[in-house]
Amino acid sequence: MTVPFGVISVFVGLAIWACLAVHAVLRRKYLPVLLFGILLMLYLNAGYVIYGPAASIANFVGIYDVLINLGLSDPASAAAVSTCPNNSCSAWGETFTNHPAWGVAFYDRFANGPETRSALLLGHVVCNTIVFVLMHVQMFFPGGQARNHALIGRVCFGILTIGVGCSVVLAAQHGSVGEYGGALSTWGFVSMSMFVYTTAVLGVLAIRRQDATQHRIWMWRFVGSMWGSFWLFRVMLFVIDPLFRDIEALAIQICIWGSAPAGILIAEMVRRRVDAKNAIQPIVAE
Ligand code: HEM
Repeated sequence: MTVPFGVISVFVGLAIWACLAVHAVLRRKYLPVLLFGILLMLYLNAGYVIYGPAASIANFVGIYDVLINLGLSDPASAAAVSTCPNNSCSAWGETFTNHPAWGVAFYDRFANGPETRSALLLGHVVCNTIVFVLMHVQMFFPGGQARNHALIGRVCFGILTIGVGCSVVLAAQHGSVGEYGGALSTWGFVSMSMFVYTTAVLGVLAIRRQDATQHRIWMWRFVGSMWGSFWLFRVMLFVIDPLFRDIEALAIQICIWGSAPAGILIAEMVRRRVDAKNAIQPIVAE
């Protein structure tokens, strides 16, 4: 039996993260859970640079293999479940012979596709990962308090443009990938790009007209869209993939279309709570 240490290490990471989330809710200390989410994202995405897309995708599919193979109905006859030659699309090897159909297609697109496609994926992963880290630096050290805030902001925006550009080119090729949802996948990823990029552009435009309040508000929304399109997407897919395995591409479509707007909504709710809390002036005893 193949022991996929990469997949197991991700599950260990997710378990630690879940404990930190409980700790955050109980103690109202959110920094450790936030930082661990960034670290885990770095750990996952670094694999694409170190081992290349095919091996990293097999690792990624291996995470989803566990739940898709559990459940009541026979996975072999489910519409959103598929097989791949020699089980090479999953780090589990022969342990699991059924895989999420999107995972089989994802592996095939990059293991057997043109090199330019893999280069685009690497460009997308590297650029968006850098922005994901830098955007937190920007949020923790806002303008006025940090000397390089404007410079980092400009660099971040440039890298984001390349990262989102790569994803739109990749998405444009999804028309023939029925396992993702075909043209619906193309337009879904375009909508995700629009949510991410539009919030960033509106944040930039606000600060260019010296409106620091609106700049902050749009950048909160931008950060929400990034968390949505990365973490919410993957966690949601993990949960709903087994639930909708009888309907082709439904689970992945929900994540493609819903993750970025949901991230923006959550960020907006958190920002309003933070602002409301900060607006309450403490009563100082005379
Ligand atoms: C602008 C929003 C985003 C869009 C439109 C987008 C789109 C895509 C597309 C189209 C793929 C490849 C699927 C394929 O062609 O077969 C992909 C994969 C990937 N994206 Fe994104 N993405 C976005 C945000 C992000 C962010 C914020 C990150 C990193 C922080 C990220 C990291 C990845 C990774 C690592 C993969 C490979 C799958 C995995 O191992 O998770 N993406 N994305």
